[in-house]
Amino acid sequence: MVTIAKTSIAEGTRTRELLMQHPGFRFAGVGSYLPDEIVTNDDLTKNMDTSDEWIRERTGIGQRHVGGTTSSLAAEAAKRAMDRANVEPADIDLLLLATTSPDFICPGTAPAVAQLLELDCGALDIQAACSGWVYGLVMANGLLLQGMKRILVVGSEALDQITDYTDRNTGILFGNGAGAAVVEVDPSGASELLGWDMGADGNYVSILYAEHGDVLKMDGKEVFRQAVTAMQRSARNALKMANLTVEDIDLVIPHQANIRIVEAAWKRLGFSMEKTGMRLEETGNTSAASIPLVLDKVLDEGRISEGDTVMFLGFGGGMTWATTIVRYAGERA
Ligand code: UT7
Repeated sequence: MVTIAKTSIAEGTRTRELLMQHPGFRFAGVGSYLPDEIVTNDDLTKNMDTSDEWIRERTGIGQRHVGGTTSSLAAEAAKRAMDRANVEPADIDLLLLATTSPDFICPGTAPAVAQLLELDCGALDIQAACSGWVYGLVMANGLLLQGMKRILVVGSEALDQITDYTDRNTGILFGNGAGAAVVEVDPSGASELLGWDMGADGNYVSILYAEHGDVLKMDGKEVFRQAVTAMQRSARNALKMANLTVEDIDLVIPHQANIRIVEAAWKRLGFSMEKTGMRLEETGNTSAASIPLVLDKVLDEGRISEGDTVMFLGFGGGMTWATTIVRYAGERA
């Protein structure tokens, strides 16, 4: 285990002093899964007053996948990640499942996923809306420090359960999917979680919510505005903790909500779209699943190499936001 320097982050009036030890943070295996059924933008025009052109121009979305349950999608993505990591169920010490669309209000969905995967370990849901998977990475890093060896961090959504596909405000955006990563200790020292940021502001509950038994309701313009602000603040906090600048980041994977949100935040932060991983056109907004879905794709495309500095940047309902910056190592890198 390597000891790294004391880091101080000043944010407004808060100062956090952190003495970090890191056990490494290796992406042993990554996988994703999209259900077969596709709803195109043209399909949506049958039930609402919209067009393929409008949706593409204003959001960057071309289609979304529907079908499956959060647990079944999660299990498919996790199996792929475990296969790539070449691990058995007994090798997993904990399952963290980020989801906004759990199979049931009670119990959590993670135990059902653990059962499908034949895991014998703790399993719990993280509900931090679209930021959940990035929250999960931060939590996993902390638990690796506590002595766990391998943690499955999954983001899975069956948002078709809580989306009204006749409402052109929300129905154009959301889709189903899952992404998963097996993260593990890395005694080689090649990988590391360099910096992170997590935040929440309950003043904004009312701009994106679903009541029990109901569909998602959203003030799209306000979510857009708050998302651009939150992404900037969170990225800057994590960069400060990691003692890095925007130029040091080799690839950013942002939450996939609206291409214009990413472009607006990047303009202010100085990131380029060339160094950005996107899968929005193919998937729509898959909330907690969106970032690992992109990670799987960019690994397939050979866009991450060992030692690259990669940022994951999420924001969503709550409002919540979260960023992690990793020195990347793992399969396909
Ligand atoms: O994970 C976080 C989840 N949520 C989000 O990320 C949502 C963030 N917000 C957004 O992505 C955007 O606000 C939307 C895509 C929801 C809406 O885009 P917008 O650019 O903010 O559109 P708008 O509400 O300002 O509407 C512009 C025009 C209006 O027409 P007029 O008044 O200019 O004639 C709307 O009536 O576009 C019209 N419009 C539509 N037209 C065709 C609004 N929605 C649609 C639609 N199809 N689906």
